[in-house]
Order: sequence, then C-alpha cells, then structure tokens
Amino acid sequence: MELEDINTVAVLGAGNMGHGIAEVAAMAGYDVNMRDIKDEFVQNGYEQIEWSLSKLAEKDRLTQKEADAALDRVTPLVAMEEAVADADFVVEAVPEQMEIKKDVYEELESVAPDHAIFATNTSSLSVSELAEVTERPERFCGMHFFNPPVRMQLVEVISGAQTAEETLDLTEALAEEFGKTPVRVHKDSPGFIVNRILVPLMNEACWLVDQEEATIETVDSTAKYGLGLPMGAFELGDQVGNDVSYHVLEYMHEVLGEAYEPAALLEEKVENEELGKKTGTGFYDYEDGEGAQIP
Ligand code: 3HC
Repeated sequence: MELEDINTVAVLGAGNMGHGIAEVAAMAGYDVNMRDIKDEFVQNGYEQIEWSLSKLAEKDRLTQKEADAALDRVTPLVAMEEAVADADFVVEAVPEQMEIKKDVYEELESVAPDHAIFATNTSSLSVSELAEVTERPERFCGMHFFNPPVRMQLVEVISGAQTAEETLDLTEALAEEFGKTPVRVHKDSPGFIVNRILVPLMNEACWLVDQEEATIETVDSTAKYGLGLPMGAFELGDQVGNDVSYHVLEYMHEVLGEAYEPAALLEEKVENEELGKKTGTGFYDYEDGEGAQIP
C-alpha cells in the first residue's frame, strides 16, 4: 500500500488521545471513523474535537471554514465493524492496559480489511506482544502521539519484532501528512523514548512531595522556571491523566525493575479517581475554573 491509498483512518477510542488523533487526521483531510464502546464516550470525544477546532480557529491556527470541514470528516461510531470496514489505517488509542488492548485487537482482526495497517498509540506496552494477537504482525507498529495531539509535534513510530520496513515508512509518511515530526524507535522497550524520560520525572516529583521535601506548587515552579518546561510536572500529570502515568509506571516497574515503583501520591490519586483535568480534579482543582496555581 502507498500513502495515496490511505483515504479512511479509523481511530479506536475517543478519550483524550483518541479524539485528539481523530482531529489531527481530519485536519489533514482524511475521512475519520472515531469509535468507542459507548455512545456517550464517542459523543463526548466529538464535542471535544468541536471545542478544540473552535479554539484553534479563535487563535487563527486555521480558518472557521477549515475547522467546519475537519469536523464534517469525523464520523462518531460505536459498532466496530462499521468503524473499520473501509479503513486503510487503524490507530488504536484505548486504555493503557494490555488485556483491554488485546481484546480490542482480537475483535478488530476479525472485521478489518486485510490491507489495513494497525498502529497502536500505546504509551509503554510491548508492540510485539500486541501484534501477536493479530494475523498481521508485519503490518502492525506503534504510533505514539503526545497530549494534546493537535499541539504536540512529535510522533514516535515504534517497530515491533516483526514489523515490516514498509509499514514503518508508510506510518512515518502518514505522520508527516498529519503535519507531525516522526521519530523512529527501533527498540520496543517499556515507555519507548519519551515516557522513559518523562514518567520517572513525574514520579520523582510525587516522591518529593510524599517525602515532604517539597510542595506540589514549588515542584511545579522549579519545573517551569528552572527546567524551562512548558508546564509544571504535576500540571502535566493532570493534563495526560494520572491513570495513564500510573499504568505506564506500573508496566515499567514490572518489566524494568524497582527504580520505577509508582509513588504513593500517584497511586492515591488513581484510587480516588482524581485523574486530572478529565475528572475535574487531580493534583489541582479544575472544577472552579482555576487549574494549576504555580507561584
Ligand atoms: N485544542 C485546542 N486548544 C487547546 C487544546 C487543544 N487540545 N488544549 C489547550 N488548548 C488551548 C488552551 O485552552 C489555551 O486557550 P486560552 O489561551 O484561550 O486559555 C491555549 O490552548 C493555550 O495555548 P497557547 O499556545 O497560548 O499556550 P502554550 O504556549 O502554553 O501551549 C501547550 C500549550 C502546547 C499545551 C504547552 O503548554 C505544552 O507544550 N505543554 C506540554 C505538553 C506536553 O509535554 N505533552 C506531552 C505529554 S507526554 C504524553 O502525552 C505521552 C503520554 O503517553 C503520557
């Protein structure tokens, strides 16, 4: 398959990452089927795309006409078969848990066209292990976007043990069509490159607070004004979702060892369902419209 043969992109999962990826693909001119397991999830994702496109138009990053056209290209769906029947490229962005993803790939393999490429947006899990569930490990790779996909430039393109070179080339070419900068990750190791660096940083920030060596606000202040990061570590945790960081760390802990043990503070946030912006509370409170308070 050539890049020109890709017309329809199916995105599985309409959460933070799924709806953002669907938006990016629609902005690049692709027909997008965005699928989630419940109508309420897929409608919520669709509304998020609508909000984001109008924000981008408001800030002159695209015209209102382009925003409307992009939204028109997104079809929200619940039925898997309908979502992937005419898909040339499938990006999976369902929750970061191996068993959930494997179940999705089993269902997907039974209904997707033979020529379609499967790309997982996993943040950390083994691409090779996920590919084994399918009958097309050579047409399976990682395509890892960053939050928020519509604003973040990088895409990690990850090779599984059996991924064909053509699949990686095509996925990189598609990332470029999406206006992104792909980087090829040769080793399918937990967290790949970005999360191997970033998630331990966020975890260490939690340990600092757990051990009463700093407060959330002072850590974020140093991250922003000392390290020059665009957001504080806790602010970013709330943006990506504390459940996501936790699951990435849990997996890194299991495969790579003790150094990656999730901090108690992060665990507590997940147990209390204080997952960040998406639940209205995380390390900061978003319900009152205040958000991160960084001195
Ligand atoms: N769509 C459209 N607009 C959005 C948006 C979205 N998805 N998300 C935020 N915005 C809006 C905000 O509402 C705000 O609007 P306002 O000014 O009206 O309040 C505006 O964008 C802010 O944009 P600016 O360009 O003015 O602000 P910044 O220069 O601060 O840029 C940013 C915002 C690009 C998000 C920047 O803060 C940033 O780069 N943050 C770091 C993000 C990051 O590191 N992401 C990677 C996380 S790791 C990951 O995702 C991997 C995963 O596997 C864990």
